[in-house]
Amino acid sequence: MKKTITLILICLFAIKVKAQEQIMVNAYNRQATSLNGYWKYIVDPYENGFYNYRYEPFENQDNPGNGAYFTNAKRTNKSDLIEYDFDKMDSLKVPGDWNSQKENLFYYEGTIWYKKSFNYTKSNDNNRVFLYFGASNYETDIYFNGTKLGKHIGGFTPFQFEVTKLLKDQNFLIVKVDNERKKDGVPTLNTDWWNYGGLTREVKLVETSSTYIADYHIYLSNQDNRIIKGAIILDGKDKSNQEITIAIPELGVEKEFKTDNNGKSEFEINVKDIQFWSPTSPKLYDVILSSGSDKITDQIGFRTIRTQGADILLNGESIFLKGISIHEESPINGGRCNSKEDAQKLLEYAQSLGCNFVRLAHYPHNEHMVRLADQMGILVWEENPVYWTISWENEETYSNAQHQISEIIDRDKNRASVIIWSMANETPISDARNNFLTKLTTFTRAKDPTRLISAALELHSYEDIPNSRTIQDPFVDKVDILSFNQYIGWYDGGIEKCKKIKWIVKQNKPVFVSEFGAGAKYGLHGEKDERWTEEYQEYLYEETLKMLDQIDQLRGMSPWILVDFKSPRRVLAEIQDNYNRKGLISENGEKKKAFYVLKNYYDSNN
Ligand code: GCU
Repeated sequence: MKKTITLILICLFAIKVKAQEQIMVNAYNRQATSLNGYWKYIVDPYENGFYNYRYEPFENQDNPGNGAYFTNAKRTNKSDLIEYDFDKMDSLKVPGDWNSQKENLFYYEGTIWYKKSFNYTKSNDNNRVFLYFGASNYETDIYFNGTKLGKHIGGFTPFQFEVTKLLKDQNFLIVKVDNERKKDGVPTLNTDWWNYGGLTREVKLVETSSTYIADYHIYLSNQDNRIIKGAIILDGKDKSNQEITIAIPELGVEKEFKTDNNGKSEFEINVKDIQFWSPTSPKLYDVILSSGSDKITDQIGFRTIRTQGADILLNGESIFLKGISIHEESPINGGRCNSKEDAQKLLEYAQSLGCNFVRLAHYPHNEHMVRLADQMGILVWEENPVYWTISWENEETYSNAQHQISEIIDRDKNRASVIIWSMANETPISDARNNFLTKLTTFTRAKDPTRLISAALELHSYEDIPNSRTIQDPFVDKVDILSFNQYIGWYDGGIEKCKKIKWIVKQNKPVFVSEFGAGAKYGLHGEKDERWTEEYQEYLYEETLKMLDQIDQLRGMSPWILVDFKSPRRVLAEIQDNYNRKGLISENGEKKKAFYVLKNYYDSNN
């Protein structure tokens, strides 16, 4: 009998835990109360806050149903037994990964429980309040004033929960973050980057009117650059048949539309004299959206992007993507980036290299990066962390990957700088992998038909043609741009091999080399055939650029990588010391000799 009750309780609890709702668009510009700052924390490697000694979840105890032991309980009399007290604990800074904040958390992988207390008073009784997270790595359980709001899985995308009905004058928020790597995760167990855990991006309370502008996508038609298309969605009890206004003052646009019964309005607006967004002219327009009770402004660039044969056409003109790959690691303090200053410094490095493009590897970066890229005129490749050997057969793994690309499209669909959604990086070919990626591509195109799709594909050789390289990945038919990583001269032979390679690319599609590179320790000098010297890296860039120029369809590249970055896989003492050294810039901001080889190549390829 007891077992049955347990099962019923768990099922009821599961229903109670809300599914993830779609994030609101443009949280970045909305009225909000930041919860950033110092949060108390409890390190919990044995999941003591989630399970009893039988390792059963607390849900089936006579616990107030919030599914956790760490509920911010306080002793009411001296005979009470409570074996924790958040308020007596140390603090972690939010946003921020825990690994780079505390020496004893440098390698920590597991659960940490955070607690933040705060007072809140709504500015209007009818308003709604949402708890918004910029990202949290990797699995996050959220409890608000003792009630479990839900769970989010994925370390690099925003999520939110409505807390209107739970809000009090005095509140406490408990968040369980578990960054343990999982075989069926996205990414999976093995990655070449540091597994920074924690509340790595901002946490804030966003207050909206009872019916508010929850979602919109406003863009220039890729088929006719005199038409601005879009959709706006209201959420709330008065969402149906509502008047909404779209104003773009600089274009003399002020149009009224009406939402349908579902609160949605789709529209087309004929405009003329648009200053198209581009790297050389990153024009952003103030777009003011208003409904009966809500008003929001966004800064939107209008451009077209499509491919035609081997060309990538930005505003109808062929463009060469002078790129560089970037990991989201702070060039200022180390650890996960989370500030506008981090983003500014990385993108300024890229601009100093002569870039008009950045590949944000291997997962969605923070929103400052794409907002600044819009302002600075830098095109962006955003990537889903489907990296290496994902569990292709696992349905939950697929829905996790789909959920993550969906969340980042919802966050960034109005950013002109973002032109490519990347489905994956270096994934060994199999039927399961092809099916997984095909399904993900179909979903992505349906959700956002306005951008290009790519992925770092696998390379092959012709057995009867020595030193040949070709693209025969079965996924080539699904992507708009043929991208691949190649390491001839580093993982694949020595640099002289570059001179022997014969590239045979038969597809009439743009080719983009998403990675090449070599490790070099800044300040280490020697012969150009001596690994780890700056001269080796410099020579590899010289020979690789010559080799790639033989590919007629070459329309861009994002060499690996802008800055040396931390990885537990890079353990060579006195050279790597937990850093992947393929950066063109050291973690201390020192430019290596190869930096100037690539800069010269980009500057002379106008
Ligand atoms: C791979 C992978 C990167 C990795 C790089 C390297 O191509 O995509 O994530 O860091 O090679 O080995 O340095």
